[in-house]
Amino acid sequence: MTILVTGAAGFIGANFVLDWLAQSDEPVINIDKLTYAGNLETLASLQGDARHIFVQGDIGDTELVASLLAKHQPRAVINFAAESHVDRSIHSPEDFIQTNIVGTFRLLEAVRHYWGSLPEGAKAGFRFLHVSTDEVYGSLSATDPAFTETHRYEPNSPYSASKAASDHLVRAYHHTYGLPVLTTNCSNNYGPYHFPEKLIPLMIVNALAGKALPVYGDGMQVRDWLYVKDHCSAIRRVLQAGKLGETYNVGGWNEKPNIEIVKTVCALLDELRPKADGSSYSTQISYVKDRPGHDRRYAIDASKLERELGWKPAETFESGIRKTVQWYLANPEWVAHVQSGAYREWVQTQYEAKPAG
Ligand code: NAD
Ligand code: DAU
Repeated sequence: MTILVTGAAGFIGANFVLDWLAQSDEPVINIDKLTYAGNLETLASLQGDARHIFVQGDIGDTELVASLLAKHQPRAVINFAAESHVDRSIHSPEDFIQTNIVGTFRLLEAVRHYWGSLPEGAKAGFRFLHVSTDEVYGSLSATDPAFTETHRYEPNSPYSASKAASDHLVRAYHHTYGLPVLTTNCSNNYGPYHFPEKLIPLMIVNALAGKALPVYGDGMQVRDWLYVKDHCSAIRRVLQAGKLGETYNVGGWNEKPNIEIVKTVCALLDELRPKADGSSYSTQISYVKDRPGHDRRYAIDASKLERELGWKPAETFESGIRKTVQWYLANPEWVAHVQSGAYREWVQTQYEAKPAG
């Protein structure tokens, strides 16, 4: 038995592989293009481990994917690969269309042909699990109920529109060809190995470097936060017991305005790594111009997954954010290596254009 995962040199995929191999000896084939967000250092502990086979490649390379499927005969494919950062999708959407839409389409084609060639038993047991996002549902007002799986799709950014398109393709491959698919739509993740262009790791890294903590707009946009390892356990559970063709929302019932997140990170750093001059890291908070088309609120109703598959998150926000800050304090080398790459150029493009607001 083997699984094939895509994009598992990134934040969630790599956490998934580390957790998977900590609990099972079932090998993982990991295909990742190694864009700026792919970081093999995250998987350094698996060096020399025969259970992890890494292949640098694009999910849109049908020939490569087909040859990996034929060679390794996986019982499941889990698709993490994507361009994932909303701000980048606003600056340059092209890569999002290529990977999230065209790439998913080509991956589905390769998987459909492989699945069609399997003997009956293997065919019946095969799964294609597509990892998606709550952002496909659009934005909620302060009083709207949380997103359920039947909420209409209303994506607002090039990123969420491209993920919505990929979800529709996955759905269509089930209805048209009978491909045994599962889709998960998860809220904002945080935790170890998170690339420091996203809110929580950026705030930790900037705070420690004595830099400004850029909060977009009024900082009152609400996100629903889930510790990454809880997302990984949800994916394992859906893979194991999810109903074919169904989608499952994944979330931790942890809605928080951004400014509260930033202040929580500052308070933890004040406690765990106090500044020499005794001032709080929160003095570094700086309000900047808002993200164009910024979604105001996301909230996930995860009751279907809890009710039907018995999944529950293990971490509260308080325990998860403490672990996360502790992880960044304990791993300055990982951060330094990320920062010495293309990341630095990106921070310049993104923040030089945002005057204090
Ligand atoms: P990430 O940006 O950290 O990692 C993406 C990975 O995909 C990288 O390793 C990158 O090299 C790889 N990749 C990009 N294009 C590729 C291609 N064409 N072929 C092969 N590999 C490619 O993203 P993440 O935060 O780990 O997100 C993983 C998945 O989970 C994405 O599909 C994302 O939409 C979804 N998701 C993310 C969150 C979140 O909060 N981060 C929440 C819900 C859903
Ligand atoms: O909801 C799930 C989504 O969560 C995933 O699908 C995406 O892949 C993932 O990147 C994340 O998207 P967000 O746009 O919500 O995450 P980000 O960390 O970029 O921003 C979180 C919030 O913080 C958002 O309201 C914008 C704000 N923000 C972000 C940055 C980077 C700031 O105020 N300042 C910042 O510097």
